[in-house]
Amino acid sequence: MQNQVQTISTQGFNDQKPGTSGLRKKVQVFQQPHYLENFVQSIFDTLDVPLGATLTVGGDGRYYNRHAIQTIIEMAAANGFGRVLVGQAGILSTPAVSHIIRKYHTFGGMILSASHNQGGVHGDFGIKYNISNGGPAPEKITDEVFAKSKVITQYKTVKFAPVDINTLGETEFETDQGKFTVQVIDAVQDYADLMQTLFDFAAIKKLLASGFKMKFDAMHAVTGPYAQEIFVNRLCASESSLMNCVPSEDFNGGHPDPNLTYAADLVAIMFSGANAPDFGAASDGDGDRNMILGKNFFVTPSDSLAVLAANATLVPAYSSGIAGVARSMPTSGAVDRVAVKLQIPCYETPTGWKFFGNLMDAGKVTLCGEESFGTSSSHVREKDGLWAVLFWLNVLAQKYALDGKASVEAMLKAHWLEFGRNVYSRHDYEAIPTEAANAVMQHIKGQFESLPGQKFGHYQVSSCDDFSYHDSIDGSVSNNQGVRILFVDGSRIVFRLSGTGTEGATLRIYLEAYEPDSHKQHLDAQIALAEMIKIGLQISQLLALTGCVEPTVIT
Ligand code: G1P
Ligand code: ZN
Repeated sequence: MQNQVQTISTQGFNDQKPGTSGLRKKVQVFQQPHYLENFVQSIFDTLDVPLGATLTVGGDGRYYNRHAIQTIIEMAAANGFGRVLVGQAGILSTPAVSHIIRKYHTFGGMILSASHNQGGVHGDFGIKYNISNGGPAPEKITDEVFAKSKVITQYKTVKFAPVDINTLGETEFETDQGKFTVQVIDAVQDYADLMQTLFDFAAIKKLLASGFKMKFDAMHAVTGPYAQEIFVNRLCASESSLMNCVPSEDFNGGHPDPNLTYAADLVAIMFSGANAPDFGAASDGDGDRNMILGKNFFVTPSDSLAVLAANATLVPAYSSGIAGVARSMPTSGAVDRVAVKLQIPCYETPTGWKFFGNLMDAGKVTLCGEESFGTSSSHVREKDGLWAVLFWLNVLAQKYALDGKASVEAMLKAHWLEFGRNVYSRHDYEAIPTEAANAVMQHIKGQFESLPGQKFGHYQVSSCDDFSYHDSIDGSVSNNQGVRILFVDGSRIVFRLSGTGTEGATLRIYLEAYEPDSHKQHLDAQIALAEMIKIGLQISQLLALTGCVEPTVIT
């Protein structure tokens, strides 16, 4: 049967501006008539889609994924695509989408996820568009999508009977524009195969067989099936090494963000004393974030990036060295010190993975990371949670092979001894009124002239600015990427408003101080940073301007 392409009249919305990582809104907002369709059409209208092109589609399994996938399939057919690759059951992690786009040379991909935001009927939904290099669309595309979404008057679709996305294989459709194929692909195998080409699975298997205990928490989100295949099926870890590995539409009511607050169950297991597992890790809703823990020990993401860079040559994929590293501006300078030792370049970019893509495409950097539990390399163009977990396990396996010991804490302490410790913490004030958050930022900016030279306790301000980034590859400039207060001794406080929240505003305060003295490096970050925290509150007048007494989340 031939299906007719239909043109549907619509009206623009004013709120479809993609944030740090795609468009995220409450499910109910996405459920408004034409809301999802308008955004998808605005993306297609921005791209020059060649007739018959292939699109990759998958999501983190959250509520509304299946509905959105059917809608996108129908609109892709009407907009000239010839084929859509869909992960089985609609599931594909963000790094897996990036890999599929690259491996099968698809034109681009749509990822249905609001990442670490809560899911379910009353939770959040989101869409990200990734370009043919596998990475998030750069700002010049997302800005145009936003402009189009405000003035859109029609979208194209073709109604198909519900497509069976549970069964692997191809379904062909005829439209009045030609043939169109939906191909349901295994969500896990390609990704697991890629991991096996990067890491020494035999060494990791030996480590896991030696009595070394690990615990991985998928937080009821997308990495569950990947973890089962990689850790249990391929690396022979015990079933009890996994927790919360069945994806659920509302993440079992939880908040799928792998940090000390939201991954509390895993944290309790890892801090349970002498019998705690040797290694713990968690990933987020769409599988691009990672948290790394040792026995009774937490690794900050900034330190994790630095340790991986320093030990990269122990891993087969990076055994001949790394070209360079990049970190987002608020991420600590720990990796900068490793770059100096390795004599490789270190780039500082704005927050958001999209800024790493050009550097990786140009071969300038191999490893990248963000303080927000994001780490990855040029094997894909997204951050990659399970990749980071396997990297840690591979390095630990090499240490074990060398001297029979594999301790996360010992590795970190040795790292700090060599490079010093960039003591680091982020304080988040979530869902505060937007005006109050803006007032805090304005209040700080209003002191740009008077702060330099001022002394606060042991610290003296050297300079302050609002971070701007000049992309050396495409020449683009991104302004207003976070306010920095830099101190004479290299410490810093950064203030930034989140671009991923869906309720009010979220203010992030990033605190960093350098500790070269090995006798003080073991201190708890909140204690070591206590004076910086006070200074941050004083400069920002946060309590007076927002009424917030304490942060919602501390990482
Ligand atoms: C947050 C993180 C940022 C990350 C993004 C997507 O964005 O801070 O590093 O790239 O989520 O995972 P924010 O809410 O701060 O804009
Ligand atoms: Zn994510």
